Amino acid sequence: MAEDKLSKIVALCRRRGFVFGGSEIYGGLGSFWDYGPLGAKLKKRIKDIWWDTYVEKRNEIVGLDSSIIMHEDVFKASGHLEGFTDSLVDCPHCKKRFRIDKLEKIGDNLYKCEECHTNIDSSKSKPRKFNLMLKTNVSATEDEPYYGYLRPETAQGIFVNFKNVMDSMHKKLPLGIAQIGKAFRNEVTTGSFIFRMKEFEQMEIEYFVKPEEADEKYKYWVNERFDFYVSKIGLKKENLRLREHEKDELAHYAKSCTDIEFNFPFGWSELEGIANRGNFDLTEHAKVSKKDLSCFDDETKERFTPYVIEPSAGVDRTFFAVISDAYNEEEVNGKTRVVLKLKPSLAAYYAAVFPLLKNKPELVELAKKIFCDIKDKFPASYDDTGAIGKLYRRQDEIGTPLCITVDVESLTDKKVTIRDRDTMKQERIDTERVVEYIKEKVSQNK
Ligand code: GAP
Repeated sequence: MAEDKLSKIVALCRRRGFVFGGSEIYGGLGSFWDYGPLGAKLKKRIKDIWWDTYVEKRNEIVGLDSSIIMHEDVFKASGHLEGFTDSLVDCPHCKKRFRIDKLEKIGDNLYKCEECHTNIDSSKSKPRKFNLMLKTNVSATEDEPYYGYLRPETAQGIFVNFKNVMDSMHKKLPLGIAQIGKAFRNEVTTGSFIFRMKEFEQMEIEYFVKPEEADEKYKYWVNERFDFYVSKIGLKKENLRLREHEKDELAHYAKSCTDIEFNFPFGWSELEGIANRGNFDLTEHAKVSKKDLSCFDDETKERFTPYVIEPSAGVDRTFFAVISDAYNEEEVNGKTRVVLKLKPSLAAYYAAVFPLLKNKPELVELAKKIFCDIKDKFPASYDDTGAIGKLYRRQDEIGTPLCITVDVESLTDKKVTIRDRDTMKQERIDTERVVEYIKEKVSQNK
C-alpha cells in the first residue's frame, strides 16, 4: 500500500507538471529531478513562506545568498574533505554497492543484502570510504586545473561570511543568518523519488548565540520548526514527530541534534535536522583562515567564539511531504477522485475559471473577464479544453481550492457557480463577489 502510494504520487507529479526526471529525453540522470511549471510554483511558495517568516518578520535574522562553489580550504576547515564519507560495501553475490549503516545487521560482521537478501560478511567484503563531495575545475585552463567544491550544505557559506555580516550589519547576538540555496552530495543510496537527490535545495538558519544561551535556544528552535510545519505549511500533526539523535549518530560537528521526521509513503524519515553545532565551525574556520571570528562580550569584557544553533530544512523534502500529506483518494459515484487537499495558500492557482460552453462568444468573454479580475489579485487558471467533469478532475489533482463555472444563465443573472475542492459543494454567487470570496477562502487558512 505504501509503495502503491509512492508510485501514485510520482505518477501524479509527472502527469500534472510538478516533477519530471532530470535529462529525461536522454534517458535520465539518476537522482536528478526537474521541477515542472506547477512544481516550480509550489517550491517557490514553500521558500517564500520560510523566508517571510524568518527573514522579513524578524529583526535578529538576516538573509544571505552565497556562492555554491567554494574554496577547498573551506571544506578542510569544516571537516567535510576528511569526514564527509559513507562506508560502502559490495555484495559478493549481486555485485551491488550499499551504505553499510543502512543495511540490516544480522550478526557479527554479517549484514543482509537489500537487493538479493543474501548475507554480506564485512570481514571478507571490506567496507570502503567514499567521499560525498563534488569537485569541479574552476581554472581557466585544463592543463593547470584548480579545484573548487560544490557545497554539500549552504551552512558553510554562512560561516565564512559571519564576520562580513557582523561588520556590515552592526548586529549583536543572538544573530541568525538565513540562506536558501542548492547543495550537492554524491549520494550513494538514492531512489525514493525526491527524498534523496544529488542536487537539492536547503533552507538553513545559523543562529549565533552566547555559549550559555545555546541549550535554551536549541530547545526553542526544535519547537519553533515543528510548529512551522503545522501552522504555516499545513502538514498534519500526526504525520510529524521528533527524534533526538543518539550520541553515536551525531555528525562530527554536532553537540546535539533532533530530527523532525515525517511519515513519508515509505515510512518515518528525516524532514529537517536541528543541531547545536557548538563553536566547532567558527573555531575551525578561524584556525584555517587565520582570521579572528570571535565576538566581544560587553558584560564580561572578554572575547568568545559564539555557539550556533542550526535548523536545517530541505526544500525538496518539504515539497514531498506537502504532496504526500495532501494526497487523497475518494470514492465519488463509483469512481475514484484524486484530490490534493493543500493549504489553499500553497496551491498553484487559488481559483480556476471555466466557460460551460466554448462556442458562445459572450459567455467566453464573460468568463475571461472574471478570470482577468481574479488574476489581477491571485494566481488563477483559465481552462476551456475539456468537458466540465474533466476540468474539475484536473483542478482537484493539482489542489486548486475553488472552481468557477460561467454558464448561459450567468449572462442574465450575473451569477456564477463556485465549487469547493474539499466538499465539492457548489453555490451560486454574484459575479462581483468572486474576488472577495476567494480572498476570504484563502486568508481563512493562511
Ligand atoms: N547543515 C546541516 C545539514 O546539511 P543534513 O541533515 O545533512 O544537515 C539537512 O541536511 C536537510 O537537508 C535534511 O533534513 C534534508 O531535508 C535535506 N537533505 C539532505 N540531504 C539531502 C538529499 N540528498 N536530498 C534531498 N534533501 C536532502
